[in-house]
Amino acid sequence: MNKLRIGILGTGVINRDFHLVTLRNHPQAEVVAAANHRPESLKRLAADFNIPKTYTNFAEMAADPDIDAVINGLPNYLHAPVTIQMLEAGKHVLCEKPMALNVAEGEQLIAAAQRAKRKLMIAHMWRFDREIVWLRDVMASGQLGRIFKVKSHAIWLFDGPRPGSWFVTPEFAGGGALADMGIHSIDTLRFILGGARPVKVFAHAGTFFRDIPLDDTATAMIEFEGGVTGLIEAGWYHLYADGLEGYTQAYGTKGYARVLPAQLQTSIEGIWSVTQPEMPKRQQQCDLPMYQAQMDHFIDCILNDKEPSPGGEDGLWAMRVLEAAYRSAKTGEAVDVGWK
Ligand SMILES: NC(=O)c1ccc[n+]([C@@H]2O[C@H](COP(=O)([O-])OP(=O)(O)OC[C@H]3O[C@@H](n4cnc5c(N)ncnc54)[C@H](O)[C@@H]3O)[C@@H](O)[C@H]2O)c1
Repeated sequence: MNKLRIGILGTGVINRDFHLVTLRNHPQAEVVAAANHRPESLKRLAADFNIPKTYTNFAEMAADPDIDAVINGLPNYLHAPVTIQMLEAGKHVLCEKPMALNVAEGEQLIAAAQRAKRKLMIAHMWRFDREIVWLRDVMASGQLGRIFKVKSHAIWLFDGPRPGSWFVTPEFAGGGALADMGIHSIDTLRFILGGARPVKVFAHAGTFFRDIPLDDTATAMIEFEGGVTGLIEAGWYHLYADGLEGYTQAYGTKGYARVLPAQLQTSIEGIWSVTQPEMPKRQQQCDLPMYQAQMDHFIDCILNDKEPSPGGEDGLWAMRVLEAAYRSAKTGEAVDVGWK
């Protein structure tokens, strides 16, 4: 195979501002096709990014033998059905988060990838952020001692989805700010804990800022195996947050570390010290380099037959926590995530 031939599903923000930018002049991949149900935005996207083929019918794109892999940047309700359709047609898939509307759909995605023997990667891009990777490494090195608490924020300040858009339509989105933003924090906590399994969730969710039928505010406490407590805050339209999306903290018996901005507090030769490790300057909150690293990993996994990380199972753990959190918010009870 020369260059990996990629098809783009959807013409929205995630493809236009992120995925397609990471694929521009990529040495190992080229975008050969794009699909969307709305022909107008499809035409504009193809013209702006020089994409030779367009499809308004996903089945036709799936049947195109000259596409090796696709990026599913469609609304959440189309993640499972279209990803399965593409896998069954022999394409590898990078699917946006959340991987599906619920756990049952997520399981179907994994089964489809296994049957088709194709790669399935879920776009939990914070795993590719330099600071988050640094935090994971600091925790794994033992410098912080035994980790007992981790926290992560996923709050969109001042703004959020437009009322009436698919993001705030329950059957299209599957959930509100917790599903859209909080899912990043859920995955980030599992990632920095080295893949620790979530055991139990207690959550609150509510709608305070706009007249929408989904949550714009959520807080969840997650018990991880080994007794580590995880806390996440998710929100849209908020006016204040202790930290923005990606702000993540780890508390250990010997030290503390956080990112955005990175800081390490620990004892060095018996002296308590606070250091701010040098990190590459961010151009924006959700910085392009992490999307680039995510795309490079997806391409590398296909070309060199490696298992993507985060793969389907990682996506499914996030879905399990999400589903348990919504159930908890509804019942007022702590909910088992489903792992014993
Ligand atoms: N990881 C990230 O940083 C990140 C950021 C933004 C979005 N996302 C994810 O990417 C996916 C797409 O988000 P987006 O911001 O690009 O969305 P968007 O609204 O900008 O684009 C959605 C695309 O899907 C098409 N579409 C199909 N059915 C639709 C429907 N019923 N209503 C509206 N549009 C429909 C639209 O025409 C458009 O091409 C979502 O799953 C979202 O969670 C991830």
